[in-house]
Amino acid sequence: MTTEDVVRTFVEYFEERGHRRITGSTLLPPPGDPVLFTTSGMHPLIPYLQGRPHPLGRRLVNVQRCLRTTDLEEVGDPTHLTVFEMLGTWSLGDYEGPQSLDWGYDLLTEGFGIDPRLLHATVFGGDDQVGPDTASLESWQERGVPVELTVEDNWWPNGTTGPCGPDSEIFLWTGDTPPKSTPTGDDRWVEVWNHVMMRHRRLDDGSLVPLTQRNVDTGLGLERLASLLQGQTSVYGGDLFDPWRRHLPGLWQLDEPTLRLVCDQLRSAMVVIGDGVRPSNTGRGYVLRRLVRRVLTVLWRDDPSRQLVDLPDELVRHTVDHFRQAVDPHEVRGVLLDEERRFRGLIERGRQVLARPRFRGPIGEEDFHYLHDTHGLPRDLVVALRQG
Ligand code: SER
Repeated sequence: MTTEDVVRTFVEYFEERGHRRITGSTLLPPPGDPVLFTTSGMHPLIPYLQGRPHPLGRRLVNVQRCLRTTDLEEVGDPTHLTVFEMLGTWSLGDYEGPQSLDWGYDLLTEGFGIDPRLLHATVFGGDDQVGPDTASLESWQERGVPVELTVEDNWWPNGTTGPCGPDSEIFLWTGDTPPKSTPTGDDRWVEVWNHVMMRHRRLDDGSLVPLTQRNVDTGLGLERLASLLQGQTSVYGGDLFDPWRRHLPGLWQLDEPTLRLVCDQLRSAMVVIGDGVRPSNTGRGYVLRRLVRRVLTVLWRDDPSRQLVDLPDELVRHTVDHFRQAVDPHEVRGVLLDEERRFRGLIERGRQVLARPRFRGPIGEEDFHYLHDTHGLPRDLVVALRQG
């Protein structure tokens, strides 16, 4: 199954069950939203989860383009991407959790052909504010799917204010041996689908109040599921990364974690640019700048002559096409090359300034301010240059 097949199968399955497809085709949240980028499928739906009637009704399905900056520090692992797509479904005060879990199980086993013996569920076991999610527990028991009860891991979202609730996560076994242990006990259980029974709202003081309607919010990482269905344990082994794996190893010799990091950050930067963001020192533009500069820092660590101009056009075109972005791939490429030029200039200047006698010893706060304000050298670059 290609990634496109996974999307089509998912969307059609839920459309046949009365869901209407909504658009999720930009990383930029709706105007007035304080968050820089959309981080999950439910993000644009927060007003509707809190009771505002949605123009398309109570059952929704979508494919949401997401960016998670919280994962920026851990990029390059086999299952997380900075920019990814989330398949999602919603019941806005319509059907309840057990129905959602039933459909989830059927789609995974019948629609995607996953062996039911490779599934494991987790369910909220209750805490001092909310009791255990017995409805989900019974649903899984009726199906014969093993269940693990947890507390923090099965509450979404953790520790913030706003809509939240107990969740039930579905895991797929990725080991070579028959399944063993439980999702919290063995990381060969990989989470594929999260069903959140979103019926509470957390207030500033940490207390919970019921939402006016009982919702279900589900999210499934597209790249992760597609690569697992393709027999790959790493998202980078899936079909979406075929052109990257074809071109990059011949261009730059990188070890596997570095190759993954470069693929993830470059591809994410392309998508962000395609959604209209340009590098800058604040907000979204700064996130983009960090993505590009991180790639360059890693590439130049071993060989400063490496340059983005060598990137095959196909990689930009493939990314822009997959995300159905209206932007000209040459423009995306131009933004990357401009940022590379600017960063190279900055590094040159940094080296010259830091060679001055004043900076031979330890660098204090005042020096950092001076280097930033007078020479435009950010603190992390100064630190990196002095280490290099
Ligand atoms: N909100 C949940 C998540 O992001 C399910 O959509 O995982």
